[in-house]
Amino acid sequence: MAYVILQHCCNDAACVSACPVDCIHPRPDEPSYATTEMLYIDPEMCINCGSCQVACPVDAILPGGDLGSDEAVFSELNAAFYQNQSQPATYSLSVPDARTRVTGTVRELRVAVVGSGPSGSYAAQELLSRRDVSVRVDMFERLMTPWGLVRFGVAPDHLATKGVAVGFERMTRDPRFRLWLNVEVGRDISPEQLSERYHAVIYAFGAMNARMMGIPGEDLPGSHSATEFVAWYNGHPDYAGREFDLSVPRAVVVGNGNVAVDIARLLLSTPARLAQSDIAPHALEQLSTSRIREVVVVGRRGPADAAFTNGELLGLLSVPELDVAVDPKGFGSNTDPDRALGFAAIQKVARLSELVGRMPSKDRRVVFRFCASPERLLGQHQVSGIRLVRNTLVADGSGVRAVPTDEFDELDCALVIQSVGYQGKPLGSVPFDSARAKILNHHGRVLDPESGEPVTGAYVTGWIKRGPSGVIGTNKQCAKQTVACLVEDFLADGLVKPTAELGDMATQLPAAFDVRAWRAIDQHERSAGKRTGRPRVKLVDRAVLLAVGRQAVAEQHGSVPDNIDAISSVTDEGIRRG
Ligand SMILES: Cc1cc2nc3c(=O)[nH]c(=O)nc-3n(C[C@H](O)[C@H](O)[C@H](O)COP(=O)(O)OP(=O)(O)OC[C@H]3O[C@@H](n4cnc5c(N)ncnc54)[C@H](O)[C@@H]3O)c2cc1C
Ligand SMILES: NC(=O)c1ccc[n+]([C@@H]2O[C@H](COP(=O)([O-])OP(=O)(O)OC[C@H]3O[C@@H](n4cnc5c(N)ncnc54)[C@H](OP(=O)(O)O)[C@@H]3O)[C@@H](O)[C@H]2O)c1
Ligand code: SF4
Ligand code: SF4
Repeated sequence: MAYVILQHCCNDAACVSACPVDCIHPRPDEPSYATTEMLYIDPEMCINCGSCQVACPVDAILPGGDLGSDEAVFSELNAAFYQNQSQPATYSLSVPDARTRVTGTVRELRVAVVGSGPSGSYAAQELLSRRDVSVRVDMFERLMTPWGLVRFGVAPDHLATKGVAVGFERMTRDPRFRLWLNVEVGRDISPEQLSERYHAVIYAFGAMNARMMGIPGEDLPGSHSATEFVAWYNGHPDYAGREFDLSVPRAVVVGNGNVAVDIARLLLSTPARLAQSDIAPHALEQLSTSRIREVVVVGRRGPADAAFTNGELLGLLSVPELDVAVDPKGFGSNTDPDRALGFAAIQKVARLSELVGRMPSKDRRVVFRFCASPERLLGQHQVSGIRLVRNTLVADGSGVRAVPTDEFDELDCALVIQSVGYQGKPLGSVPFDSARAKILNHHGRVLDPESGEPVTGAYVTGWIKRGPSGVIGTNKQCAKQTVACLVEDFLADGLVKPTAELGDMATQLPAAFDVRAWRAIDQHERSAGKRTGRPRVKLVDRAVLLAVGRQAVAEQHGSVPDNIDAISSVTDEGIRRG
């Protein structure tokens, strides 16, 4: 049986070049790659060689014969993609691959990368893979732990997806690469100071701010953003102390993206399921005693326009303790205009149709409510409910829009989470497009807002370049494009030679830690996990993270910090709670 791509495909296309018969699509050079939910294997062409499985960083490929009962549906999904498809047209992506191009003189290029999430890490990897320039990369991360949303966004029960970090870890062993943790650019060092030391700075600091709808009642206790809730359950130090009311049987999640699906699944996970994940100790404790048994996921448009992917929907349907139903209100042709749908939308509508009005038989359930928007949150001193307005959908030149009607519904609940996307924020003097909440750029070259011309030596990649959308692998192609522009400018003598030396960075940044601190934290968390039968027990307290980092550095230098007893007791407490 042919090999099959599964739910947690992150679109990085590492499998594409591994396949000897070109049966994995869409490829990055095909137009539909930009919008595809995942990649698919053509079962008619696959010769079962297994090369793609070896290449996949997140174990998202299995031989058809090894699929579990929950995964068999992905075999159908892969095959369905190729039914009635003409051979995808190819086009040339404007990213020259210079890996084999060697110029006469190899010159040293120094680059600073701001942010250690997938986009910054792919950019660093791409730079280090170049053969036409001699590269040195310094990466700056404001937290004590690297890899951005791989640690603080990806759901704690999606452990395979986090495997993408293995490739990033490998990069830290390259002597041309340095990781500077606990350094916030804009606070500890300015963009201008970086420009003095590097030919180029790549901004890759993501878009971690919450988007809110601005509806009445959203300031009440019980109303939260997805950003806040996700960062809390994933152990982000800035959000560890947040409180969520889990005492009332129903919660409402507003928004129809994959983050909304993650949140609904996590809110309803059983203690046993949570314990197998790497969820933060405080969240494990609180969610394990949660009384929430129903999560209503509210989408302003219909099922065909839901932003969650088929993979995540199928993943939700495969959770054994969960019922998934679709509220008949807001589902059907009376709300959704007739139109031609693409492959992913057809699959989604077909699956959701089977769930309409389904009667629950289990203790925990997710209910999708389409074509509805929150009009206000109800309650005097705390959220006690949500008032929804029913929408009708209108198709026009710009797509399908939700238009409110004069019909309303109210739901009782004490917790409302708005999962309507993230947004970027400006950093110092780096040109920012406030309307789109991202850095002003063209193909990754930062632009001067006055002249519209590129700012010499300034580049951008990832969510802060494109806006907060796209899976992990999307950032790989995005980073390649940015790095191609940067190297092109360098080779054309378009960058300014650094005026300050790199040697003084450690003096400049006395609070910074290097990769040894992260390795010690990682090791500490994994060991604690081993002792408690969990993948890892995350450290979330900033002081403890700093202390473990400091201890690692001290041990390298043969001295132990004064507060070592305090560190041990605090981390042991974290482990007991985990
Ligand atoms: C909740 C959630 C779940 C997701 N789950 C998945 C999934 O399962 N699979 C998948 O493929 N994709 C998933 N994604 C998408 C994926 O996480 C993103 O595509 C990706 O992380 C974006 O990468 P980035 O590097 O642009 O930003 P980020 O990952 O946010 O990285 C930015 C980094 O910059 C650092 N930083 C910020 N400001 C500064 C500063 N001033 N100085 C220094 N450092 C700074 C941050 O601390 C962070 O480490 C998810 C996204 C979210 C929000
Ligand atoms: N497992 C995974 O692979 C995974 C997991 C999590 C996240 N991610 C990725 O991370 C990215 C971000 O995910 P996300 O869920 O935050 O964002 P998203 O995919 O952009 O979804 C945002 C949702 O919010 C809705 N919304 C926006 N404004 C609204 C408003 N004013 N009122 C009501 N609804 C509103 C949108 O509806 P409209 O469509 O009508 O605008 C959409 O349903 C996505 O690319 C996602 O695929 C991937
Ligand atoms: S098993 Fe071999 S032929 Fe089949 S998709 Fe993977 S790499 Fe291609
Ligand atoms: S995660 Fe990457 S390598 Fe794995 S199946 Fe998806 S695109 Fe291919």
